[in-house]
Amino acid sequence: MCGIIGYIGERPACEVIVRGLKRLEYRGYDSAGIATENGGKLFIRKGAGRIDELTEELGFLDLPGKRGVGHTRWATHGVPSDVNAHPHTDCTGRIALVHNGIIENFAELREELLRRGHVFRSDTDTEVIVHLIEEELKSSENFEDAMRKALLRLKGSFALGIIYTEEPDRLYFVRNESPLVLGIGDGENFAASDVPAFLEYTNKVIFLDDREYAVVTKDSYVVKNLDTGETTEKPLHEIEWTLEMAEKAGFPHFMLKEIYEQPRAIRDAIHGNADVIRTAAEEIAKYEKIFIVAMGTSYHAGLVGKYLLQRLAKRVPVVEDASEFRYEFDDLVDENTLVIAITQSGETADTLAAMKLAKRKGAKVLGIVNVVGSMATRIADLTLYTHAGPEIGVAATKTYTTQLTVLTMLAVELARVLGTADEGYLDGLEEGLKGIPELVEAALKHDESLRELAESLVDRRDFFYIGRGISVPTALEGALKLKEISYIHAEGLSAGELKHGPLALIEKDVPVVAVAPGGRTFDKMVSNIEEALARGAFVVGLGDREDLKRISSVFVEMPPVDELLSPLLYIVPLQLLAYHLAVLRGNDPDKPRNLAKSVTVE
Ligand code: G6P
Repeated sequence: MCGIIGYIGERPACEVIVRGLKRLEYRGYDSAGIATENGGKLFIRKGAGRIDELTEELGFLDLPGKRGVGHTRWATHGVPSDVNAHPHTDCTGRIALVHNGIIENFAELREELLRRGHVFRSDTDTEVIVHLIEEELKSSENFEDAMRKALLRLKGSFALGIIYTEEPDRLYFVRNESPLVLGIGDGENFAASDVPAFLEYTNKVIFLDDREYAVVTKDSYVVKNLDTGETTEKPLHEIEWTLEMAEKAGFPHFMLKEIYEQPRAIRDAIHGNADVIRTAAEEIAKYEKIFIVAMGTSYHAGLVGKYLLQRLAKRVPVVEDASEFRYEFDDLVDENTLVIAITQSGETADTLAAMKLAKRKGAKVLGIVNVVGSMATRIADLTLYTHAGPEIGVAATKTYTTQLTVLTMLAVELARVLGTADEGYLDGLEEGLKGIPELVEAALKHDESLRELAESLVDRRDFFYIGRGISVPTALEGALKLKEISYIHAEGLSAGELKHGPLALIEKDVPVVAVAPGGRTFDKMVSNIEEALARGAFVVGLGDREDLKRISSVFVEMPPVDELLSPLLYIVPLQLLAYHLAVLRGNDPDKPRNLAKSVTVE
């Protein structure tokens, strides 16, 4: 996730852009850059670092011109660095472009462009776009035509802001699967990834849809369809949010915003890994002895990963919390070992220590990481990124579901390499995964009824979350979310364990949240729920089966989905339930007491 902004009007463009970038910093903050145009020449300054520092060091505010584009980066392809920072330019220095998104087929396009003599300066996927437009310009009637032809060749997600020096009066903005809004002013126009970037100047906006682009001058705008080139009429909206509301996209908390971002984040995780998953799977295939190490929510993702690897690839990894792994497993690690480290921040002290230990012992280390360029990515031999974008809420939400996405892709691909599962079934799972963002949208529709449920449960002291098989980690993660932000005691466990102790705590009205997708152990799950009901439990049943609906005190209906994909979906209502309970109890879910987003001490 990155932030982009563009301005055309009568003000110094650099000022509007720097202010806008500050407002977009929540979308990324590892590097930033600005391109303005003045007198037919491009002026570009960019670098790695925070916007305030760069404004000072590079003199962003000295850039001349009344039109320009800016970018704040959260690296996806290529580490944060001065050359990888946007804007990127073509070989002739006439086109400057900023990009938010991921180009899936960039490797093949880059090859082709290199063969045609283009010179690349960065490691980014973005740079192919600007060279591709330059290439198409050679055989096109005009810039718009060339831009369209180039963009039609891209696979993946992109929101773009583009300046072409030969056309002094306009800017181009494009949207496909990455957000982009136009801000319509009086004698000036704006575009950005998000409304807060320009809300202080105008509250009149046009939301571009996927596969649309806009040609924007200071007094006009035209929106067209990228595939047909035809003009489309777009409604003008007036935004009534305050700036603070707008930064959270109208949501009261970042956590809720991030819960709602999950369909987009999962899509990005799928796109962002399509190219690299095979290489990772081939590497893993060489190892029989596999450890998965992580902490907190990432540890729960590791547990889901274990079920996926077992079921699909017939590999049985040991999943350990990294703080334990360091001291209990050190003499079991050798050069025949693969350690998969999962970490959102890439900076968790225990996880880094486990990774370093593994390296010292000669093991191969694969990282599944969100923050590009973080320490974990420097230690790992190979890194798969989750592409969730910055997560501001302390309780992990979208980074968890994107970790699950990567693990699912990895297990499917590994099963292909090893030939351990039916190809048709694997194809079906892969298709099913692509459909998950839409099903997550459907699961989000329970928001209001979960808030009502939370109201009725707000005074309960203990919650139990139960599941079986691949739903056990969902139960653990659901309980963790509740503990972290609502400060209510919660326990997650396998439903079979209930009668070996915890059942003694179940009495009238104690909430038992049952994660019960239809699957191989559904009937057993029903028996466990009956045990709890017999003690008077208040059962919140999550599932897709009539028999569950019949026995649950409250039923949360989930779309039917393959059991192996269910963790991606079933955690969503549990995140919402925890969120509402926290808010109803007067807590700030974004900043839970005693907890930090990234724990960099042992
Ligand atoms: C902290 C955070 C958790 C996170 C855990 C591991 O405890 O509050 O949300 O799951 O660290 O962090 P990592 O960045 O390694 O995934």
